[in-house]
Amino acid sequence: MPRIAYVNGVYERTSEAAVSIEDRGYQFADAVYEVWSVFDGRLADLAGHLNRLERSLSELHIAMPMPRTSLLVVLNEVVRRNRIREGLVYLQISRGVAPRDHVFPVDVRPSIVITAKPVDRETAARKAATGIKAISAPDIRWGRCDIKTVGLLPNVLAKQKAKEQGAGEVIFVDADGFVTEGGSTNVYIVVDGVIKTRSLTANILAGVTRLNLLPIIAESGIELREESFTLAEAKAASEVFITAATSLVMPIIAIDDHKIGDGKPGPIACALREVYIERARASAGV
Ligand code: PDD
Repeated sequence: MPRIAYVNGVYERTSEAAVSIEDRGYQFADAVYEVWSVFDGRLADLAGHLNRLERSLSELHIAMPMPRTSLLVVLNEVVRRNRIREGLVYLQISRGVAPRDHVFPVDVRPSIVITAKPVDRETAARKAATGIKAISAPDIRWGRCDIKTVGLLPNVLAKQKAKEQGAGEVIFVDADGFVTEGGSTNVYIVVDGVIKTRSLTANILAGVTRLNLLPIIAESGIELREESFTLAEAKAASEVFITAATSLVMPIIAIDDHKIGDGKPGPIACALREVYIERARASAGV
């Protein structure tokens, strides 16, 4: 079955879909994006991603190309046309198409692209049961990582390096030795039974998975501290895990080939993954 994309008002085969060579997303990374997970054919953490999308757009002074209600119809239609039951939806909105000039063009319409792909939940569950390795890398990204832009070259290069070293994620470390976040995830550690994750004020992306995991942690009775931790603390932690719409809650079993705990997925990460998925599935589409 051919994959179907939505591009500026038209549903077409992904293999044939295209945007202009003068799209500012292509030329300047002047674009934002969102990724939703799909459970039972419905978008998970729907409102959280829409809220963050609106915030990213407003920080860049790009208008929402259509009202939320219309966008929802299109997102669901892309899921339906691709017959996705379990999967991911990708949305990208750029400032639009204009002759190349750094300053904002006037009277330009934002470009919008939506694609979807299936995810094999059984393979993902097996991966989570084994855990993944991570490497560390200096965080050389810009100072506005709170905006979800497509300017991801530092992330791409670091994640490629991770892959070449047999790891599945990169953990970024700032100039002071503190962990910021993952290449495409938020990072958490467990120390003496307390979960630590960097606070949102410190130049990281406000993960929607993080947003919805925090109340689950609170309910579990585990103490959570939103504070910075060093790479050394992470390596010495009893557990390390990451979150994102793509990986959900994923245990990290080694950083730079240094074993975390006993080198197996930790019980807290595994329990949180279960509850997160259960909740996300139950509330998908809302
Ligand atoms: N990435 N931090 C970074 C740098 C990210 O790119 C992401 C998500 C997250 C987690 O955000 P959320 O929980 O809302 O997915 C944190 C997406 C999934 C991606 O780039 O594919």
